[in-house]
Amino acid sequence: MSTTTIPAWVALNETAGDGNLKFQDVESKKWDDDNIDGEEQFCPQMCWTYLSPLCVGNSKGMINQGGYAKVWRGSARFANKVPDGMDPADAAALVCTGITCYSPLKRYGAGTTAKRVGIIGVGGVGHVGIMIAKAMGADVTAINRGTRKEADALKLGASKYIATGSDLEKDFEGHERSLDLIICTIIADYMRLLRPMGAIVVVGIVPDPISIPSRPLIWSGAAVAGSPIGSPGEIKEMLDLAVAKGVKPWVQKYNMDDINKAVKDMKAGKARYRFVLVNTDNGGVL
Ligand SMILES: NC(=O)c1ccc[n+]([C@@H]2O[C@H](COP(=O)([O-])OP(=O)(O)OC[C@H]3O[C@@H](n4cnc5c(N)ncnc54)[C@H](OP(=O)(O)O)[C@@H]3O)[C@@H](O)[C@H]2O)c1
Repeated sequence: MSTTTIPAWVALNETAGDGNLKFQDVESKKWDDDNIDGEEQFCPQMCWTYLSPLCVGNSKGMINQGGYAKVWRGSARFANKVPDGMDPADAAALVCTGITCYSPLKRYGAGTTAKRVGIIGVGGVGHVGIMIAKAMGADVTAINRGTRKEADALKLGASKYIATGSDLEKDFEGHERSLDLIICTIIADYMRLLRPMGAIVVVGIVPDPISIPSRPLIWSGAAVAGSPIGSPGEIKEMLDLAVAKGVKPWVQKYNMDDINKAVKDMKAGKARYRFVLVNTDNGGVL
């Protein structure tokens, strides 16, 4: 069993509550399996963000209220510093959307072995995926239904945009075998866009089983993978990359007290591209 350390805010003595928390390396959770040491996102005792019973500590059994809660208490292992000068609302969007894309982009070599990256779904996750993939040095193709998000995708850093409709074969004409890596925030048959031995990573959560045609999968030698969020260590790397390359998610802020309006607006498709609830009671700024 190896030991991985990650940076976190920790209370070292009784003055911590007066603003004296220290940012230092702490040991990450230990696993029996060396290969996933430090990869907390694969914890078999996962506590989900919303409505999940907490599994350890004094709060064991209490139900987690996730992003709708005005305070959060948890292990220092999961705390990352918001970089100096970054709007906490941007950080909030990045620790969901940014890490969901950064982790598989890094694992599958975006910008290095995978020079041409496709991001499917220009939404909350995908719009940041375009920026992160570009920041990692990849040439990015954005794929979404229709053309109404084309201008945004190009502004976000994509060099190409493929508008999909009812006939994917026709939509993908001329783009076959053009991508080394595809991050898929929604599900559809995108295998024909992949170069031989490329990878398609599913991050979008859909209720129905994924159906993958076997022949194109075999003849392209492709890999199909999944990816959940990312580790605290990767979140730090992603935030550092965001600062270094100026990755700024497109967020719309709502006062947390206006949650019901925010949900209605989201359901009406008004998100361009991430809504963030701002906790003004605790000093958040709209
Ligand atoms: N793996 C993880 O750790 C993780 C983390 C966070 C979120 N997620 C999941 O990721 C998924 C995406 O989340 P999100 O917040 O980005 O959602 P979102 O904002 O609704 O974005 C989804 C995007 O996909 C597009 N789209 C939908 N159907 C399409 C189709 N058939 N062809 C092409 N484009 C299509 C939508 O475009 P139009 O509506 O404009 O057509 C929209 O831009 C969700 O399932 C979420 O649960 C996973």
